[in-house]
Amino acid sequence: MFNIKIILVAILFPFVGLSQGLLTNTVNRNITSLNGSWNYIIDPYENGYYNFHSEVYDQKNPTSTSAFYNNYHAKDKLELVEYDFDKSPTIIVPGDWNTQKENLFYYEGTVWYKKSFDYLLKENKRLYVYFGAINYNADVYLNGTKLGTHEGGFTPFDFEVTSIVKRKDNYLVVKADNKRSLEAVPTVNTDWWNYGGITRDVLLIEEPGVLVQDYTIQLKKGDVNTIIGYVTMSNPVQGKKITISIPELKIEKEIQTTSGGKAVFEFSNDSGNWGTLKYWSPESPKLYEVLIKTDHQLLKDNIGFRTIETKGPDILLNGKSIYLRGISIHEEYKGKRATRESDALALLSWAKELGCNYVRLAHYPHNEYMLRMADKMGLLVWEEIPVYWTIDFKNEATYSNAKNQLTEAITRDKNRACVIIWSMANETPLSEARNSFLIKLINHTKTLDSSRLISAAQLTRNENGIGIIDDKIGEYVDIIAFNEYMGWYGGDLATAPEVNWSSPYNKPVVVSEFGGGAKQGLHGSRDERWTEEYQEYLYQQNLLMIDKIPNIRGISPWILTDFRSPRRMLPGIQDGFNRKGLISDQGMKKKAFFILQDFYKTKKLQFD
Ligand code: GCU
Repeated sequence: MFNIKIILVAILFPFVGLSQGLLTNTVNRNITSLNGSWNYIIDPYENGYYNFHSEVYDQKNPTSTSAFYNNYHAKDKLELVEYDFDKSPTIIVPGDWNTQKENLFYYEGTVWYKKSFDYLLKENKRLYVYFGAINYNADVYLNGTKLGTHEGGFTPFDFEVTSIVKRKDNYLVVKADNKRSLEAVPTVNTDWWNYGGITRDVLLIEEPGVLVQDYTIQLKKGDVNTIIGYVTMSNPVQGKKITISIPELKIEKEIQTTSGGKAVFEFSNDSGNWGTLKYWSPESPKLYEVLIKTDHQLLKDNIGFRTIETKGPDILLNGKSIYLRGISIHEEYKGKRATRESDALALLSWAKELGCNYVRLAHYPHNEYMLRMADKMGLLVWEEIPVYWTIDFKNEATYSNAKNQLTEAITRDKNRACVIIWSMANETPLSEARNSFLIKLINHTKTLDSSRLISAAQLTRNENGIGIIDDKIGEYVDIIAFNEYMGWYGGDLATAPEVNWSSPYNKPVVVSEFGGGAKQGLHGSRDERWTEEYQEYLYQQNLLMIDKIPNIRGISPWILTDFRSPRRMLPGIQDGFNRKGLISDQGMKKKAFFILQDFYKTKKLQFD
């Protein structure tokens, strides 16, 4: 029999302060999908939200409710009503509006969505409406009642609707607004398309009166024979009985919540009762079925157990030094927002075909499908929040926004073994305000999850021909990651292999981006920019240079596939796409794909 110690909640646990209220592991809950055809109304002047004196309808004037969020029809021919959802066109959810409607391709503003549904809520059950993501600002209403708002285009949120839902003719209305702004996260300037809308799944989730709100279960840091975890119930009930079981390890134990509605536990394998625990790794992505049972609920999940840590220049996965054979990926498949599990499978299958054991999911938290697919396929993950370029680092509201998006990402993905790195930022300009902003985010991350590594894609400087990686943030992160564009934004490809790099930190180094553009199918000499041959040569020369970097432990070249960007408009070559992909936006591989594939598959990487 193994030892189990019900540990008082007072003992600090690696996960505290996670996003309260956010339901996790939704894919395995009692869900009804609201995906599909929704009516929509374009509202560039936000006429449905502000009256003609710019007063907000649903706060300042609760009586004169906004036209748009009531599924209201004129009572008679005399009444003035200037909208009608049911007569309006439809759009598919999930999906960006830009690539679904030609007149919305460049649109940045408000679109109102409406979905009608019937629902029979059983007695003593609770109902939630859950959004995988809405880019960028969302106001949500059900049956004319405002449920709330959310800011941030890449993390989930939910609202309880138990007391509002009706048996018939419910109408869910969403105001989605993708306008960019200086104080937002990301800010106004990004090298990716500002896809607007309800871009991820919308679910109704039916739960018991007292439900399993959140939980985590993982190997104890530094002890591969001990599994620790906690379960948080929705209500702060004491003495709630919860049974945790991992059948394959012959673990089954009843635990009880303390006054805060939380129960923590620790399973140790002192007697070897589990047999041999198969650790999760890219080579063997073993997932165990975990069951969490209460008197009214059975929640299942598939969880991998592994350790990740650094030691000097090494990244140790399950105690063994590894080299991150990676590739960067945007959440885009064939020229539109990737929204489905099949998109995740396609993108990560290309990564596997490259010979990757690792992916950098840039520059924001991707769809949960990507994380669960990476768990299954055995790909380590760098997960990032969109603190990108010139964020308003002096703005407290901007920091709170970034902190909230980070909290939501960690709350959602903390049980995914594939995630090994939380990234705070990408190429942010140096300043005291920026350092303070990032250090606060780093410290916040450590309070949420002390089990994973922390990094950020930094910029470098050149001193007498030597690349210097001495960003102050290097003191606070576990992995020194930086982007370099030798041979694309400067530098001489012919002599690139002679360039040396130096860093004052004795930590693992990862080149989080390098690359160059090529139009797939355009051929010529390797000295001719935009040809596949140029990109091929750029990869050859950069890989020779990178291989010499002290403490190099991985790379994630920029980028798996061409992707849309309003900053890339060269006619006949870019046409609105960033062409640094190893694969075109139509799925055609370029010659450089095979250079990287060969590097990963043949070169004995000294740390594998
Ligand atoms: C930057 C940035 C990417 C961008 C890339 C490029 O490093 O991180 O988001 O797309 O370079 O210029 O193509």
